[in-house]
Amino acid sequence: MISINENYLKLQSSYLFSEIAKRVSAFQDANPDVKVIKLGIGDVTRALPQSCIKAFHSAIDEMAGNSTFKGYGPEQGYPFLREKIAEHDFQSRAAEITPDEIFVSDGAKCDSGNIQEIFSSDITIAVPDPVYPVYVDTNVMAGRTGKFSNGRYEKIVYLESSEENGFIPDLPKEPVDLIYLCFPNNPTGTTITKSLLKTWVEFARENKALILYDAAYEAFIRDDSLPVSIYEIEGSREVAIEFRSFSKTAGFTGTRCAYTVVPESCIGYDSNGGKHSLHSLWNRRHTTKFNGVSYPVQRAAEAIYSEKGKIEVKNLNDYYLKNAGLIRQEIDKLGYKHVGGENSPYIWVKCNMDSWKFFDLLLKKAGVVCTPGAGFGKCGQGFIRLSAFNNFENVQKAMIRIGKILNR
Ligand code: MLT
Repeated sequence: MISINENYLKLQSSYLFSEIAKRVSAFQDANPDVKVIKLGIGDVTRALPQSCIKAFHSAIDEMAGNSTFKGYGPEQGYPFLREKIAEHDFQSRAAEITPDEIFVSDGAKCDSGNIQEIFSSDITIAVPDPVYPVYVDTNVMAGRTGKFSNGRYEKIVYLESSEENGFIPDLPKEPVDLIYLCFPNNPTGTTITKSLLKTWVEFARENKALILYDAAYEAFIRDDSLPVSIYEIEGSREVAIEFRSFSKTAGFTGTRCAYTVVPESCIGYDSNGGKHSLHSLWNRRHTTKFNGVSYPVQRAAEAIYSEKGKIEVKNLNDYYLKNAGLIRQEIDKLGYKHVGGENSPYIWVKCNMDSWKFFDLLLKKAGVVCTPGAGFGKCGQGFIRLSAFNNFENVQKAMIRIGKILNR
């Protein structure tokens, strides 16, 4: 008899974004004439930067010739890309990360989901609420969370983000082993200061804990005083792993390229208190289960570090930030409270009713898709998330439609 992993039965119905897609598709089937505008899942809509396209084409041409063809590459990524990442994303900001500490992959979602495999099944995890659902669901699958009751998994330590704390969670009141942090935040769009991030690093050091720092949205930071990487904080190399992605930074959601940084000095403990290199464990996992990102994709990703590529990437993200500005301005006019959207593509709006009901209202009456806050956790109830990833004209139309139905 083939027995199943019963932890899967503890998961809440379907994955949030699949549920939204199902509802939108049912609405669209019943209303084929409505041009639905999607401000739901954070999926980019603008073309890849020209520098990436050029590099992509030229790498494809290399694949067409026997003398330049590439088979399997290094699982951790080609040195040409890892070296550029280390230099431009870290060393240029005085964050001491070397190319060997970078693991190129096909997505930050996969990496942030897979990383928990290298930790014991009985560690205590702390997750913000609201939170990107992948962190929670992958730990449910691994059997770390216990049962779900009253909107919460019994063994998770929830770090509440609310209006009261400005949507930045307080430090846990008890010792925890693994802490998930995401800044600029998904879903609230809030950011963290260096001094506050330092308190998290200190907490992790004091508790022999590890921080999983998701910086997938760092390219949207425009306030120079904010940390772009956790490695800008002293003492973080021993206690933090960072996830980065080319998806939102450079329009790679469909192209797939990301990376995870595991410093050589980052450590975990065995049951006798012996120290082990998390870099070695992740390297073992990565090389066993992954065969690398394709050569043309890595060449395309490398192109964002050229002088021209950097300008194109900035323009691309400025475009989405302009959308975010328009959303904030229109939501403001309607008198709804909101945060985010300044150094982030997400705007977190207090909708003053059940979030799924508000989702249905926007979909059915305005033909606009948002993400219901409740899908990100109990504290997301009463909120929705609007994404700035769409064309400016569509965002304008969406805000006019929303204005018409919500004008109070
Ligand atoms: C989101 O909308 O939260 C993200 O696009 C989802 C993801 O990156 O997987």
